[in-house]
Amino acid sequence: MKQQPEELGRKIVVGVAGGIAAYKACHLVRDLKEYGDDVRVVPTDSALRFVGAATFEALSGNPVSTTVFDAVEEVQHVRVGQEAEAIVVAPATADFMARVAAGRADDLLTATLLVATCPVILVPAMHTEMWWNPATRANVSLLRERGIIVMEPAHGRLTGKDTGPGRLPEPEQIAELVRTVLDGQVPKYDWVGKKVLITAGGTQENIDPVRYVGNRSSGRQGYALAEVAVQRGAEVTLIVGNVDELPTPPGARVLPVVSTAEMAAAVAKHAPVQDLVIMAAAVADFRPDTQATAKMKKGRNEDSLQTLSMVENPDILRTLVQDRSAGKIPASTVIVGFAAETGDPEHSALELATQKLGRKGCDLLMCNEVGADKVFGQKRNRGWLLARSEDPASPQVTEIEDGSKQVVAAQILAAVDELRIGQE
Ligand code: CTP
Repeated sequence: MKQQPEELGRKIVVGVAGGIAAYKACHLVRDLKEYGDDVRVVPTDSALRFVGAATFEALSGNPVSTTVFDAVEEVQHVRVGQEAEAIVVAPATADFMARVAAGRADDLLTATLLVATCPVILVPAMHTEMWWNPATRANVSLLRERGIIVMEPAHGRLTGKDTGPGRLPEPEQIAELVRTVLDGQVPKYDWVGKKVLITAGGTQENIDPVRYVGNRSSGRQGYALAEVAVQRGAEVTLIVGNVDELPTPPGARVLPVVSTAEMAAAVAKHAPVQDLVIMAAAVADFRPDTQATAKMKKGRNEDSLQTLSMVENPDILRTLVQDRSAGKIPASTVIVGFAAETGDPEHSALELATQKLGRKGCDLLMCNEVGADKVFGQKRNRGWLLARSEDPASPQVTEIEDGSKQVVAAQILAAVDELRIGQE
């Protein structure tokens, strides 16, 4: 049970419009309920042609109705929207978004949205042609202008054999966004036209065709940064090393790599056109100086008592900073690094991070304490955000309190705002 005591009982409305992805709303309700929140499902009539009211009632523990004419004495067409702390509609069909954009209130869900003053998230799911249709584009723009959060749809298999953007993002991604919003990090759609490059996961260095040297990075923090940057309207390129089995951030362009050399090459290729580069990847510092082409066998020959001889990898972050100084990438590009520190007997993690910021020369450095059970692979993060100042020994330090990796990501991007991304 993932229950977080401070997150119990917040009132969330899950709206469901009539699309085939309505069945995924069941997983969304379950995920939100597991955190102890109070979930009320408000489907449209057509949503109930895909999933029955009994399913939503059982999963949410609350009554389900579609019309303003049920429980009239409770004035629920107003009350549900007034009481909600967040509303998420998943799936939001093209027709449903058109109705919301037009300000209709002809069923309980649209009436609820018209009353609501809390954050509203619409999660589109439709065929690619519908998503790209100028009518839908116009509706999405209008809704975003009004402060409604419209998630980017995922890219992948649609109802039939076709693929493309239009798939409902995974329920866990939607639930994470809902909780981020409830934690007070409501993304503004204010990075349209900004280009953001993010690296995530760990690089792997092959020893032979079956073995490698790697690290425990899950990729979660990098993925969370990509999700939040997309949510702010940025064009996001995500260079991905080895990661846990995570759903791809909807709307981001994903470029997989394996080794540090591949990641360095991909960063060098894409960095020159970016407004912001975030090195969230856990880059392997060393690689075997040779890679065996055949599997190494024990006890067969001289080198069977293997001593791995390692050589140092290029430092991608430091190279980026040097390239910026050399004019190879624009001076306005903001560069953010991460510091995975365990601390040592003489120094705290924060002291080591301060030294690292000086060595790397990036603009911001997110420092987290790591260890077998800390940060790597976890869903939450905490630490300090260090901003470079005139005196390298005393950067500006902001404590980042314990929060989901999405909430931490939103705070990192807010700190980038302070540095005036892409201006100058
Ligand atoms: N990094 C990089 N290239 C490397 C190693 C690290 O770009 N070869 C980046 C990471 O993506 C991260 C930052 O540098 O943004 C710090 O990574 P970390 O592993 O904490 O530091 P190291 O450079 O390995 O330094 P140290 O060995 O002193 O911990």
